[in-house]
Amino acid sequence: MKLLVTGGLGFIGSNFCRYVLSENPDYEIINVDKIGIGANPANLHDIENDKRYTFIKGDICNPQLINRLIHQVDAVVNIAAETHVDRSIVDPNVFLQNNTLGTFTLLEAIRKHNHKARLLQVSTDEVYGEALEGSFTENTPPKPSNPYSASKAAADMFVLSYHKTFGLNVSITRCTNNFGPYQLPEKLIPKTIIRGLRDLPIPIYGSGQNIRDWIYVQDHCEAIATVLKKGNAGEIYNVSAGNEISNIEIVKKIIALLHKPESLITFVEDRPGHDARYSLDSSKLQSCLGWTTKCSFEKSLESTVEWYLNNEHWWTPFATDVILHPTPWKLGGGSH
Ligand SMILES: NC(=O)c1ccc[n+]([C@@H]2O[C@H](COP(=O)([O-])OP(=O)(O)OC[C@H]3O[C@@H](n4cnc5c(N)ncnc54)[C@H](O)[C@@H]3O)[C@@H](O)[C@H]2O)c1
Repeated sequence: MKLLVTGGLGFIGSNFCRYVLSENPDYEIINVDKIGIGANPANLHDIENDKRYTFIKGDICNPQLINRLIHQVDAVVNIAAETHVDRSIVDPNVFLQNNTLGTFTLLEAIRKHNHKARLLQVSTDEVYGEALEGSFTENTPPKPSNPYSASKAAADMFVLSYHKTFGLNVSITRCTNNFGPYQLPEKLIPKTIIRGLRDLPIPIYGSGQNIRDWIYVQDHCEAIATVLKKGNAGEIYNVSAGNEISNIEIVKKIIALLHKPESLITFVEDRPGHDARYSLDSSKLQSCLGWTTKCSFEKSLESTVEWYLNNEHWWTPFATDVILHPTPWKLGGGSH
């Protein structure tokens, strides 16, 4: 099986490439990544010389590149995206381009040049919007709250429409919040670890009561690989591990693991459009495709903190004032 993995130099993409090659000796990967925010070529140093792995610096919005590559593969795993909600508030256009038009470019390439290629679209629980009670199933209609989740939901709609109208072999995974090694320090867990290590105030948006459902990145990678192999065409599969916890609670856990004082916590203005809670029902993936989580939340959180402690050289270049900013959506800027 030959895969085109997009966004393979980012957090989930690099973990996915490593996971797939270690579990499937007969798989080959072409990784296309534009090396944008979130990407780090160092993430995959360990597999750079693997003959089954090829890296191409490129943009999924470039039809010439994608049309050329699509002939060479059996399936596309679309992980590439602009991913930070805070940045989507500053510059929504970048999210529309990369997340929606990028996915559209892949779909068009498959439709016109390799109709048999399978597409696995890596999406997010955020497309459903906030879950004030209960847990969302795959039948819950999308109701995105911010430009990031809107751009992902729009991409999902194109993916499903290309199945129905053109018969493309597509599946979508929608996963909850990931954590683990190689995550850019703009996200809650690495930002908290790094600011804590530097004895800097640790920002909590609003009251800190917003709930996220966390999953270790390895479990997510296994879920993507499972749906790629066994998922039905035209279907969505929710991915979650049932670790719902408020932001303030997870920050306190990290501070305890770092042996730092809780007095570092500072409450800051809430992010506009901040969803109160995410919660997914992933019983379809478990009962239909046999996937289950393997990683314990507490142990994985501990090992993630340890990874950041042991890999300062990896995150130091990223740990700028902008990336670690307490309220990034107030930084301004934007392309339009
Ligand atoms: N991180 C999470 O908690 C989470 C949860 C659910 C779903 N997801 C989804 O998983 C995917 C990956 O998320 P992540 O956290 O690893 O993000 P990330 O920001 O760490 O990595 C994204 C990668 O995509 C690349 N990229 C962006 N636009 C591109 C383009 N136009 N062409 C080529 N490469 C491009 C970037 O350079 C980067 O390497 C996203 O689609 C996101 O929506 C993430």
